Amino acid sequence: MKQQSVTSHNDCYTLNNGVQIPCIGFGTYNAEDGDNYEIIRTAIEAGYRYFDTASFYETERVLGKAIKESGIDRKDFFLVSKAWTDEMGYENVKAAFARSLERLQTDYLDLYLIHWPKPYKDAPEEVWKSIEIETYRALEELYGEGKIRGIGLSNFLPHHINNILRNCRIKPVVDQLEFHLGYTQAAAVAFCEAHDIRVQAWSPIGRSVLLKEPFFQEMADKYHVSLAQFALRFIVQQGVIPLPKSSTMERMKQNLDIFHFEISEDDMYLLQTMPPTCWLGEHPDFAPPERTSNFNQ
Ligand code: A2P
Repeated sequence: MKQQSVTSHNDCYTLNNGVQIPCIGFGTYNAEDGDNYEIIRTAIEAGYRYFDTASFYETERVLGKAIKESGIDRKDFFLVSKAWTDEMGYENVKAAFARSLERLQTDYLDLYLIHWPKPYKDAPEEVWKSIEIETYRALEELYGEGKIRGIGLSNFLPHHINNILRNCRIKPVVDQLEFHLGYTQAAAVAFCEAHDIRVQAWSPIGRSVLLKEPFFQEMADKYHVSLAQFALRFIVQQGVIPLPKSSTMERMKQNLDIFHFEISEDDMYLLQTMPPTCWLGEHPDFAPPERTSNFNQ
């Protein structure tokens, strides 16, 4: 098992291109449960500087506004956005990237990712493979122009990443996967580690589904922390970057306070070898979620 190498939420990892990335970020998907702007503004106040968004989430505009109005230097933030499935393709993704910059009120991104490996459900292998390659080629060019500090992937499994690795000039720096207690995708994570691709965890608290699991609660009780803290610590100890979401200041702060305890090696193995549970139901090969509104505005 990979050893944890960070001791505070301000610590960073070095990506395979030398860029420093904070060890924990804030997820903005479905922040609309409350007032998006207010949630992000509160997260900045709570101490988060690394924000994960995507055109699909429709949170880029409020994030850009919250950053601008925080008065904090853009360079102190780490901003990640993603191109959605219908933004794939060489020309399409360049236009999509420009729209993301405009919505975020910035002239560069820290990371830009291809959000989903397949452009649509049931795309034939030759179709998704070729569109992935041309999309990634456009990202390589944007990276070469200095508009992105790192290019990467999201929801790509080893067979999708292999297609990129066999055809790229610049290796992806990250892959963002569903990863949490009960669902740790050992094969995908081992593949990423072997290729020096840093894994990021979306829904690290299992969209609160796992907060209802009595066994996980017992484990958290043993360490005298909340189950959310335990879930996040479990991720950080594997060198994976969690991107928790929350709508309250108290929980946002609690989710950064995960460096005062350590899960034992035996408990880590116990948790990593449990039967899978709490899978959220979106498999990269079978179900890119449907977009419900016209977001290319
Ligand atoms: P809330 O907004 O009320 O804090 P994930 O990041 O895995 O998608 O999970 C997000 C869910 O987890 C949200 O429903 C959020 O609710 C909840 N959550 C986040 N942090 C905590 C926490 N520290 N304790 C309990 N629930 C939390």
